[in-house]
Parts: sequence; C-alpha cells; structure tokens
Amino acid sequence: MRSGPCYRPIGVFIFSTAIQFQKKKSNMEYLLKAFKTIPTKPIIGNNVFDLARNDFTEFGSRALIVTGKSSAKRCGAYDELVAVLDSLSITHSLFDRVEPNPTVESVRACVAEHTEPDFIVAIGGGSPIDAAKAIAIAFKGNLETGLTGIIAPGQMVPLVAVPTTAGTGTEATPYSVLTFHSLHNKVTIPERVFPTLSLMDPRFFMTQPAHVTVSTVLDAFTHNLEGYMGARATPVSDEFALRGIALFGATMGELNACWTHEPSPATRAKWMEASTLGGLTISIAATSLPHGMGYALTYNNGVPHGVANIATTIPYLRLCQTLPALAPRVAQVLELVGCSSLEEFDAKIKAICRELLQITLSAEQIEAYSEMVSQMKGKLASHPGPTCVEDFRVCYKHASNQ
Ligand SMILES: [Fe+2]
Repeated sequence: MRSGPCYRPIGVFIFSTAIQFQKKKSNMEYLLKAFKTIPTKPIIGNNVFDLARNDFTEFGSRALIVTGKSSAKRCGAYDELVAVLDSLSITHSLFDRVEPNPTVESVRACVAEHTEPDFIVAIGGGSPIDAAKAIAIAFKGNLETGLTGIIAPGQMVPLVAVPTTAGTGTEATPYSVLTFHSLHNKVTIPERVFPTLSLMDPRFFMTQPAHVTVSTVLDAFTHNLEGYMGARATPVSDEFALRGIALFGATMGELNACWTHEPSPATRAKWMEASTLGGLTISIAATSLPHGMGYALTYNNGVPHGVANIATTIPYLRLCQTLPALAPRVAQVLELVGCSSLEEFDAKIKAICRELLQITLSAEQIEAYSEMVSQMKGKLASHPGPTCVEDFRVCYKHASNQ
C-alpha cells in the first residue's frame, strides 16, 4: 500500500504513435543534421581543432581553457588545442581545477582569477563543460540572476565544448549541473546555456579507465531512456532516443568486456554518437526520475553519476510499465537491449557494473532521499504519471545492497 503524498505532473505528455525508427544517411551525417534542433554549431572529425581554426579566429584573440585535473592532457586534446591557438596567435590561459561534480565555488574562483576572455574552450567530461557553461555566463554577471530561458549570445562568453567522455552529452544540452553544498545536493542551474560550438573528435575518447567508460555510457543510456519515457517527449526526441538506445543495446557486450579488453575505436565512436544523441534527446525532453534520485547517491555516497542513475532504473521502468501510454515503450526498450524481461535486463546491468553497484543505504538515507526527490518539481513533472514517496523508497531499496 502506498503512503505519503502523491503528485501529478503538470507537463503535457506527447505520445507519438507513428515513429519509424529508420537508419538515415551515415551516422555522422545524421548527427550533424540533428544538431539543427539546437543553437550549437557542431564539428565532428579527427584533428577537430584544425577544422575549427576559422571559428577560433572569429571569436577573438584571447582564450580561456577550462579543464579538469588531467584528462584533457592525457587524451592529447590540450596539447593539440594549444598548438592550434599558438599558430593563430591567440593567447590563452588555463583553469584546470574543475573537480568531479563541480561546485559553484569553483566557478566563482575561475572568474575571480581570470580576466574575461574572448572565448572559452572547455575540454573534458561533463564536469569541466558544465562548469564552463556557468563560467561563460558568470563573466557577464548572469549566473544566479533568475534568468530561466535560453541564454542569448550577448549574455555569455562564446563557449567551445570539447567532450572527452561519451556520456553526459553536455556538448548538446543547455544544462549545467553544479554541486551546491548549501543544498547538500547537485542542482541544475536555472540558466539554459548551449555551447556556441561543439567539437567532437573520436580520438579523444580512447583513453579512459573501464569504470569511467561504464559509468559514462550508462549515463548516456539513461538520458535517452528517460527522455523517451518522459512527459515532454516529442517525435523528434523519440527518434534521437531510439537511435541512442539501439546503439547501447548493440554494444552492451563490449561494455561488459571493457573491464578486460580495450573497446575498439568503432565501439567508442558508437558510444560518442549515443552520448550526443542523449544530449539532444534531453535538450528537448529533459531527464526524469532516475536522474533526480541519482543526485543524492552521488552527493552523499560517492556513486558515479551514470551508475547512480542506473541504480534505480529497473524499478523506475516497472513504474513506467504501470502507465498504459508507457508500457509499449518499455517493451520497445527491452527489445532494443535484447532482453525479454526487466529481470533479465537487471542481470545484464549488474554484470556490466560489477562492484560499481555495491551501494549500501541506511533506512534513514532511503527515507531522506525519497523525501528529497518528492520535492523535485521539475523531475516529477518529467514523469507522465502520478508518483508517491513510496515509489522512491522502492527505487532506493533496489539500489541498496545490490
Ligand atoms: Fe546525466
């Protein structure tokens, strides 16, 4: 029996019945075309900084490079970028102190330590790029100003996003998720900041430890999944999401094997594509309950973001199955991941995650986290059905002690 207050989302559920999941053109051609749904210019290819020389020159003569501690240098992207900027006589400074799950304090520190550049180049996974989105508007005084729409070009420093992990899809979204210690959680800032330019070079995705690969690919999968199940899904976001889910389903074997075998460049390219498709999906349809539930697992229990999302995904899909509009979609997802039941899918997820899913939550944590999610109006509105605090308890119990 359910307990606690129930919530009904205010979002309008757009259910598309006639989506034809078709292979169109080459994968890269499709992605470039898909970017036309957002105000970000994409460039995809090897030696991507060379391909962006004209764009850099148009931005100006002073660049700020934003990275995490080491991955931008380890994958070669930082050195390649510096070489191209030097050849163009563009001066550059570096802020390389973006931490995992970046804080608003890091954003403020960067702005305090640097003069406003003509453009920012953010290299890394979701953390440096999300931080750079906030930095780009903070230089213009527009962080935490209550702006809730899409930031216009004049309200931000032009931002170049260079993803090095296939997961967040932040190169194709307006979202910046920052850690606010005052709120004891991660929060999506209200400002909507699309990168001005996104540069995707498959070579930069080649050098990741297995646990990073697993977590980031699962993050991409949950973006596509939650967007597909979400109240704001449209025929366009459905097409992106289904392509992304199919790519995940086709590469689950390689993801499981990545603990012992380096994935092939072709597989990495598929995950890059699925990640960007996930970003495009949630730029339209937004994330939903697993992301809302996952933030507390990351903030309090140190669970990597993608793993935190997948930890509650199976009970979330059971919840979706109870809705007549979503039950066929759950069946379609199962088909695309090659499973005949949610139990079979659960077993495959656990096999892929291994010790990453060893999460232990106390009864107090389950209660506190469930109550917190029940207050997340945005995430609740993304789910096209009623939810109760008990639903979240069930999800967190599933996540615990797996
Ligand atoms: Fe995510």
